[in-house]
Amino acid sequence: MKVDVLLGLQWGDEGKGKAVDVLTPHYDVVARFQGGPNAGHTLEFEGHKMVLHTIPSGIFRENTKNVIGNGVIIDPYVMCQEIKEASQYTDVRSKLFVSLKANLILPTHRLLDHANEAAMGSKKIGSTLKGIGPTYTDKTARNGIRVGDLLLPDFDKKYRALRDAHLRRVESMGFDFSDVRMEGMSFADYEQAWLAAVEQLRGYQLVSTEYLVNNALADGHAVLAEGAQGTLLDVDFGTYPYVTSSNTITAGACSGLGVAPGNIGRVFGLFKAYCTRVGTGVFPTELFDGTGEYMRKQGQEFGATTKRPRRCGWMDLTLLKYACMLNGVTDLIMMKVDVLNGFDKVKVCTDYQIDGQVTREIPFRIDERIQPVYTELEGWKQPFESGRLAPALENYLHFVEEYLGRKTYIVSYGPDREETLVFGK
Ligand code: GDP
Ligand code: IMO
Ligand code: MG
Repeated sequence: MKVDVLLGLQWGDEGKGKAVDVLTPHYDVVARFQGGPNAGHTLEFEGHKMVLHTIPSGIFRENTKNVIGNGVIIDPYVMCQEIKEASQYTDVRSKLFVSLKANLILPTHRLLDHANEAAMGSKKIGSTLKGIGPTYTDKTARNGIRVGDLLLPDFDKKYRALRDAHLRRVESMGFDFSDVRMEGMSFADYEQAWLAAVEQLRGYQLVSTEYLVNNALADGHAVLAEGAQGTLLDVDFGTYPYVTSSNTITAGACSGLGVAPGNIGRVFGLFKAYCTRVGTGVFPTELFDGTGEYMRKQGQEFGATTKRPRRCGWMDLTLLKYACMLNGVTDLIMMKVDVLNGFDKVKVCTDYQIDGQVTREIPFRIDERIQPVYTELEGWKQPFESGRLAPALENYLHFVEEYLGRKTYIVSYGPDREETLVFGK
């Protein structure tokens, strides 16, 4: 068996949580491979709504193991709160496996995130302030503390040393954190809550998830890797420096789970029928007019993690093609087609015009020089007409498939698990 991968092809929030939940009945294991609680994956089922930040989106289905891989970074407090909430609906504890090699987000990583953003002023990344950048920085600088360290006798000493070094750095930056709030708490209160959560975390199934995943494959079990963020937020290939600090692409599933490249199977590439972005950075097809406002309202485009309004615009096929190439996408999943209901015409960007030249290649600098070139297509009133896909929507799908050279596997037309059309196998 091989690991299938499901990931976002835009700037995140494509609907990965919902899509993973829909596909989970076909899988024995669902695994997150990168990112941390900067992610917010929304699931709606049986009248419930839940936003997951760290736990994989397969958690609400029976008989599925849910793995938090080594590439993920974990904030014990956020994770324990999430486990508490999800436990209303399912037995999380028995289904959740956490990598011993996953790095921990310390309260002082969050302080550093605040301090770094404040220091950047108008050039700030628009980070979720969950401590992502500083934690991955410590990981690659080989200073990080990992889940497995929780079980070793020198954890307290290690924690103090790293925390104190961070506090010295914050102080040297002249950053006053008296007003900073973390999950509604001051730093001092948060640290206490965090340390209590660390105690709880020790009681979960902390294992070498690389063995769990590879043994599952060897035993003929199906594994789905769930991406976080999106391809355009990838630290190498995204709109750098306005990106996150991990590899969000398929390759990230190999390093973030310990899976060899030859063991990757299908790659499901998700995108909205339009496009959104939160945080700073260029977004060539962004709409600043009433149409963008309409998409935000219809699509409820407000961040699942930070509640910030999402910037909205037309779908950008130039970027999607690049994302398909980087990820080796085999199947397309188009989300939120219902949000465009009622438009007479819809637009898709097919080329970039840069300094008078028309191109489909993504330039090194993705900046304001880029002028999107649009193709206009017929809109649809409803996703379905007379019991079948509306012809205009079908035409839109075909246009996208033709451009990207891949077939559509799923079309999603509402937030609920049931509002999903699956083509083929
Ligand atoms: P993720 O981060 O990729 O999991 O996506 P988010 O959960 O951050 O954002 C997607 C939002 O769209 C959530 O509020 C979902 O409930 C919602 N959603 C997912 N699929 C659809 C759909 O097909 N139509 C509509 N209207 N909403 C959807
Ligand atoms: P999901 O998994 C959308 C964005 C932030 C910011 C940039 C860096 O729900 O799709 P970070 O906190 O990672 O240092 O922020 O990345 N960002 C996301 N945008 N969806 C996400 O996750 C995101 N995770 C981070 O807004 O611009
Ligand atoms: Mg999200």
